[in-house]
Amino acid sequence: MKAVQIVELSGPRGALRVVDVPEPAPTHPATPGRGVLVDVRAAGVSFPEVLQTRGEYQVKPELPFIPGSEVGGVVRSAPEGAGLAPGDRVAAFCGLGGWAQVAVAPEFFAFKLPDELDFAQAAGLVMNYHTAYFSLKLRGRLAEGETVLVHGAAGGIGTATLQVARGLGARTIAVVSTDEKERVAREAGADDVVRSDAPWKDEARELSGGGVDVVVDPVGGDRFTDSLRSLREGGRVVVVGFTGGSIPEVRVNRLLLNNTEVIGAGWGGYVMSKPDVNREIGEAITRLIEEGFIRPVVGARFPLEQAADALELIDGRGATGKIVLDVD
Ligand SMILES: NC(=O)c1ccc[n+]([C@@H]2O[C@H](COP(=O)([O-])OP(=O)(O)OC[C@H]3O[C@@H](n4cnc5c(N)ncnc54)[C@H](OP(=O)(O)O)[C@@H]3O)[C@@H](O)[C@H]2O)c1
Repeated sequence: MKAVQIVELSGPRGALRVVDVPEPAPTHPATPGRGVLVDVRAAGVSFPEVLQTRGEYQVKPELPFIPGSEVGGVVRSAPEGAGLAPGDRVAAFCGLGGWAQVAVAPEFFAFKLPDELDFAQAAGLVMNYHTAYFSLKLRGRLAEGETVLVHGAAGGIGTATLQVARGLGARTIAVVSTDEKERVAREAGADDVVRSDAPWKDEARELSGGGVDVVVDPVGGDRFTDSLRSLREGGRVVVVGFTGGSIPEVRVNRLLLNNTEVIGAGWGGYVMSKPDVNREIGEAITRLIEEGFIRPVVGARFPLEQAADALELIDGRGATGKIVLDVD
């Protein structure tokens, strides 16, 4: 089968090679001896793969390896009891190996795709939307009627968080850096948009009538202190990622003074060993799709062979929505 591998750790342009390799067996490291084989139609590209081309991601597989954490495609085979049959359309989280014509996912990470979504949208569904729900609801304890501020709001996690928050009955304020990203955030359903180079903290406090309830932060860096200052009493900052580059530090007296919280949200590691939680999130996401709240925003699309262009777009902060590789 055709696939793209990371063959060296020289960054997005030099690290990749298009290869012809044997198809995988129907077994996944998370479920040895069992796995759902998927004929891949579209594969998602995201920030961790940029980091993987430099050896900077926490998971460091031996070289060469096929990256690609999630796909949209058609089931070729599924283990007995998985609730899937050959021919089913699925959105699947495979961890690695998605940038290929055939990928394998654990059965608890393969979800039947509702008719409302296409394969490209499926390639942006599991990681971003499950993380968004996990961050907002299970970690951030978001309640109906609360206000959520979303950093990096035009990105993959950002657009997903806007849609899920809305589906959970919250009001949303998006933080973005450009006009184009403002447009994307509004299309994804943001109630208000503020700019990261403007006094966004003051604007957010004003828009929310005194402070937001939850901040979802996939960016980190030097805006973190202002995120804390934008909270109302009892507010929570949910830490999701660090695309801004640096990992912020918290002066915990701020938390004491204002009765606020900083909460970590690491989705993959958490749900991997908790099938019930994973199922609960999957059901909530399906419901939000059926109710019309979730429509993954697909940004740029590239053929599989041009995966390096996709990575450079993300690395250059130029991506909006989910970047997708079309696999034939
Ligand atoms: N915790 C979890 O379980 C979990 C799960 C999935 C992903 N993540 C993490 O979440 C983060 C976001 O992923 P994503 O797929 O949403 O990424 P993305 O689509 O590339 O969006 C990231 C956003 O970060 C902002 N940003 C600020 N400074 C940046 C910089 N120097 N370079 C690039 N972007 C910058 C950009 O928005 P502006 O230009 O508008 O500022 C951009 O839209 C990543 O760190 C990823 O590893 C965490």
